[in-house]
Amino acid sequence: MKLLIIGHKGMLGTALKEVLKGHQLVLWDLPEYNITDETIIDKMVAENPEVVINVAAFTDVDGAEKHKKEAKAVNADGVAILAEGCEQLNTPLIHISTDYVFDGQTTDGYREDDPPKPINTYGKTKAEGEKKLRKITEAYFLVRTQGLYGPNGKNFVDTMLEKGKAGGEIKIVSDQFIRPTYTFDLARAIAVLIDTQPDYGIYHLVNEGTVSWYEFAKKIFELADMPVKLKAISSKEYKTAAKRPANSSLLNTKFKPLRPWTEALADYLKSKKV
Ligand SMILES: NC(=O)c1ccc[n+]([C@@H]2O[C@H](COP(=O)([O-])OP(=O)(O)OC[C@H]3O[C@@H](n4cnc5c(N)ncnc54)[C@H](OP(=O)(O)O)[C@@H]3O)[C@@H](O)[C@H]2O)c1
Repeated sequence: MKLLIIGHKGMLGTALKEVLKGHQLVLWDLPEYNITDETIIDKMVAENPEVVINVAAFTDVDGAEKHKKEAKAVNADGVAILAEGCEQLNTPLIHISTDYVFDGQTTDGYREDDPPKPINTYGKTKAEGEKKLRKITEAYFLVRTQGLYGPNGKNFVDTMLEKGKAGGEIKIVSDQFIRPTYTFDLARAIAVLIDTQPDYGIYHLVNEGTVSWYEFAKKIFELADMPVKLKAISSKEYKTAAKRPANSSLLNTKFKPLRPWTEALADYLKSKKV
């Protein structure tokens, strides 16, 4: 199948290229291809892919508080442009969104049909992108995910390993909960979406199991066999520009469950020869 991946140079794009390499891949990213530029529609039509996968986004959560316009241009308006292009092509769009469209005020986690209620600029712009996408086309797979880690991107696992090597006490918040997700597991699930083409709609694709960032860090050091001094702190003690949801774990109620997060993490560490 001819697949167009937009944002391929990033962390998820890196895994998608590897997992989908049996397909004919067309790979776009900045600076040649900018999703905020409407002329990208003509380029999409000329390329005529069978499926478009959008992993391009403004992903700096704290930076978005300062750069609201730029974040909106990519995460909301850019998505609308791609959805228009897909409508012209009569091609499905697989678009990636985030747990940060929710406010985190739940004890159970969020189902696919729960209404978004973002609490920071990144989440607001991603939620706006979701809304625009669903208004413009019915042929979408809106894939929400969270806590991504994998090669070729800034992520929590690599940051912990660097901090562990540097030595000293590491303070991690223990009152924010997520489902850590390995980019390669997500990419394999997206490959299944492409192959099986289930009903269009929203999917929550995450590794199974909810943990706090503190528990996540603890497991990383345990599996890496790296003794560190780890201290649990509260969100109040760890100030960030953007407010984070307390429990934004995504519940996958529609798709074959991905494996438990601990197994995926062990694989990632093995691939890094940790
Ligand atoms: N990382 C996470 O923990 C996480 C969690 C939940 C959801 N997600 C979602 O998952 C998706 C992939 O995330 P990721 O971590 O792989 O992101 P990433 O590593 O930041 O990659 C995004 C790619 O898109 C490119 N890009 C940015 N603006 C663009 C534009 N206007 N036109 C074309 N390309 C553009 C980036 O280029 P530059 O690097 O040059 O800007 C980068 O190559 C995003 O939709 C994100 O919102 C991520």
